[in-house]
Amino acid sequence: MTHHIPQTMGQQHGRRSWAEPWKIKMVEPLRMITREERQAAAEGAGYNTFLLRSDDVYIDLLTDSGTSAMSDRQWAGMMLGDEAYAGSRNFYHLEDAIQTYYGYRHILPTHQGRGAEHLISRVAIKPGQYIPGNMYFTTTRLHQEMAGGIFVDVIIDEAHDPESLHPFKGNIDLGKVEDLINTHGAAAIAYISLAGTVNMAGGQPVSMANVRDLRALCDRHGIKLFLDATRMVENSFFIQEREEGYAGKSIAEILREFCGYTDGAWMSAKKDNLVNIGGWLAVNDWDLFEELRNLIVVFEGLHTYGGAAGRDMEAMAIGIVESVQDDHARSRVGQVRYLGELLVEWGVPIVQPIGGHAIFLDARRFYSHIPQNQFPAQTLAAELYLDSGIRSMERGIASAGRDPHTGDHYYPKLELTRLTIPRRVYTQAHMDVTAEAVKAVYDARETTHGLKMVYEPKYLRFFQARFERL
Ligand SMILES: Cc1ncc(COP(=O)(O)O)c(C=O)c1O
Repeated sequence: MTHHIPQTMGQQHGRRSWAEPWKIKMVEPLRMITREERQAAAEGAGYNTFLLRSDDVYIDLLTDSGTSAMSDRQWAGMMLGDEAYAGSRNFYHLEDAIQTYYGYRHILPTHQGRGAEHLISRVAIKPGQYIPGNMYFTTTRLHQEMAGGIFVDVIIDEAHDPESLHPFKGNIDLGKVEDLINTHGAAAIAYISLAGTVNMAGGQPVSMANVRDLRALCDRHGIKLFLDATRMVENSFFIQEREEGYAGKSIAEILREFCGYTDGAWMSAKKDNLVNIGGWLAVNDWDLFEELRNLIVVFEGLHTYGGAAGRDMEAMAIGIVESVQDDHARSRVGQVRYLGELLVEWGVPIVQPIGGHAIFLDARRFYSHIPQNQFPAQTLAAELYLDSGIRSMERGIASAGRDPHTGDHYYPKLELTRLTIPRRVYTQAHMDVTAEAVKAVYDARETTHGLKMVYEPKYLRFFQARFERL
């Protein structure tokens, strides 16, 4: 009798196995409801995964935002909250961590990323000005537009091609920025809005060479360069892995160098910084800081808490230090890559190269028979939930919203369904279950029909829109 010799996960992928650089101290039970119950839940939620109750979800890959597991040290830090209205000691810890690891001079905490986006947009944009950026992000662009700005996508063309293997698909095309300056003049540019990594492009990184060149371009024209630092730690991992001259540098060194080319940053600390809520805004220029510091008391809170509890600022300060550890960054991106490699091996179309925080299923190729105005990516998210209770999210035409001038849908080139991996929450076995569920939905693709939108909110419609099956 022959015996099947089991292979470790690493061996199956032709390499030595890796393991998470943490062990589990506290567990949270998962529940799986029946197919009939999921059908009722999906209908009740208008086939929008944002409207499901989390109790009805088995593996929750909706987002990596605020869904991280905090460490024992962060939880201990929560007990050290100094809930003073003004001058909380936790603020100074947070300020020190941001200055040390991101390198900016002046810091303001905010309740989350969009609070920071709101303030910087109000202060740095004059109505009618352009904001070139490396692909839009939903809340970022909306705040820029609400401040009277006009967002212009200046990411390299490869970013819009889910099959392009460009190693830095988040890069800005400097030629596109120069064209904009030549057409409208430098004074018509509010600032350059650079994100690392680029969420909507599939978690794709920006290279150090690109930010260095951008800095030089900005200096030539007297334009400011602001960074969406939400996933900049993950971006630093890709620079370490792919960019010449950075293999021997630590994530912390790379992060600091990258931020050093920019004039300031906003942050959704709910991602890289490993907390469940929080954000910050940081700039180097004193005059700009003074304006922001004045405005923050109107919209967020006093400048030493900005909408955050002392305990949350402490958890953020500790989370920043943990996030820049090389073994953390490697295992975080490694887990995402593990899931992606399985899907690629099984022929499921995904955005490549595999990004930092999520696998983006290419719904255009997945459901090539469903037209974009029948929401293929939304359909895929719904089908995945029905099959297995796994929650993902749409990043396609529903997320893109409508052009405020024409009223028509924006038709983004990328029509994606995002499987977003929370940090330090799920194990490799959860990734296996997820891969098998995606494969099952893929195998049933030809008999799947699209959706129609039956309720559409005015702002950020993807959060609350409702759909019916066609
Ligand atoms: C790239 C990027 N920028 C900004 C934000 C907004 O941050 P928040 O959700 O904390 O308001 C997010 C999160 O959704 C994001 O992914």
